[in-house]
Amino acid sequence: MNLRRLIPALALAAALTMSAFAATGLKFDKSEYAARRTALLEKIPDGTAILFGAQAISSYYPYSQANDFVYLTGVELPNAVLILDGRSKTSTLLLTATETAARAEGLDPALARDPKAFTGIERVMPAESLTSMIAMAASRGPVYAPFSPEELYREASTEKQFAFLRATTLNPWDGRLSRELQFVRVLKERFPQVEVRNLSPLIWELRTIKTPAEIAVLRRAAAIGVKAHTEILKACRPGMRENELSAVFNYVCEREGAQESAYGVIICSGENHPFVHYAKHDRVLKDGDFLVVDAGPDLDGYDIDITTSFPAGAAFTPRQKEIYEACLAVHEASLAVYRPGLTMAQCRQEVDEILKKKGFDLNKDYFRRMRGEFGHFVGLATHDVGGAPMTLKPGMVFANEPMTILAAEEIGVRVEDTVLITETGCENLTAGIPRTAKEIEAAKKADGIPQILKKAGR
Ligand code: GLY
Ligand code: MN
Ligand code: MN
Repeated sequence: MNLRRLIPALALAAALTMSAFAATGLKFDKSEYAARRTALLEKIPDGTAILFGAQAISSYYPYSQANDFVYLTGVELPNAVLILDGRSKTSTLLLTATETAARAEGLDPALARDPKAFTGIERVMPAESLTSMIAMAASRGPVYAPFSPEELYREASTEKQFAFLRATTLNPWDGRLSRELQFVRVLKERFPQVEVRNLSPLIWELRTIKTPAEIAVLRRAAAIGVKAHTEILKACRPGMRENELSAVFNYVCEREGAQESAYGVIICSGENHPFVHYAKHDRVLKDGDFLVVDAGPDLDGYDIDITTSFPAGAAFTPRQKEIYEACLAVHEASLAVYRPGLTMAQCRQEVDEILKKKGFDLNKDYFRRMRGEFGHFVGLATHDVGGAPMTLKPGMVFANEPMTILAAEEIGVRVEDTVLITETGCENLTAGIPRTAKEIEAAKKADGIPQILKKAGR
């Protein structure tokens, strides 16, 4: 090989070698984060937003950047700060990071070497500039800081806030403030004249409407969730411990490229149906049991929320089938009516009309206990920010999750998909899981991973 040929070959080999160590870059193109910051800057024309990233952690969980922070920057290193100046429309990232610190988080060291080029954020300053930056912000007008708690690994902001409020109000000796409110307090102490406004709802308005780039990730995550749930259906047999099902789910998700599961796999069966988030996986399944399996993958930080309900054995009992089909009918009717502009109350009305036309008796106990339908937004958190919508808008992604529990009969049913509101209606991102009783019974005839392993003597 002559030298002319060799040099590009070496360059390619070097590139391949480097890519063998390829640490993660930003999850999206720089322009995606820039557009999100621009949209937020529009909302604060008179002031400055100050957003702290997550601190380093001391547990064996992976480091997770706070969702609001990663949404606006893509930066997944501890102790970064984002300052957005609404008047000059500029963004500043405060970050002091070594290449080793970046590599330790599995990130591209270029983030530490040249954070400006890497992130596309126009100004990068050392972390030591924080005090002067805050003083400048406070002297110029209102400061926007989040009042709601940051979402870290598998957390949801609203639930975290309620848990915190419960803990601090129930225990009169617990005088803590959240990290966010502590910052507001110190800011007011040091700059008594400053007006501090709540940044959280402004970011959440943006997060509630998914961009095409986010929808693309959610679609990929959804496809993984569909595969993993289908494998659970095939795997489930009486005599099996529930944690074998959870292992199947996590195995399939990670094999298919998800980094992890969005939340600990939930399995309710037998006497555990009333505990809707039961995740101990400690029952041995028996014939006649009915299961609720609620599980979803996390891909590139985005969660998917899916629940299937099915018999442990080969077939539904007539009673299980009756209740299951009622819940499935509510789910399908909801997906048929969702469209932009509708309020939740209007959806409910239309769903009831469809059910009545189909001949369902809405006075049945399981219908009266039915709840859920619109459950919560889904995105960077499984129970994503934004509460319940006033009206549906294109780009909203949420879990539709009707459920009914008849504890005395040890039957719980939940049918849950992650859906997207489109320009004209609704798209079920997690379509494709066997859903009718007939499809479920057919899927259960196939061997799942545990049966295949057993037959191979493993
Ligand atoms: N996966 C939790 C829920 O559906 O609420
Ligand atoms: Mn769920
Ligand atoms: Mn849900």
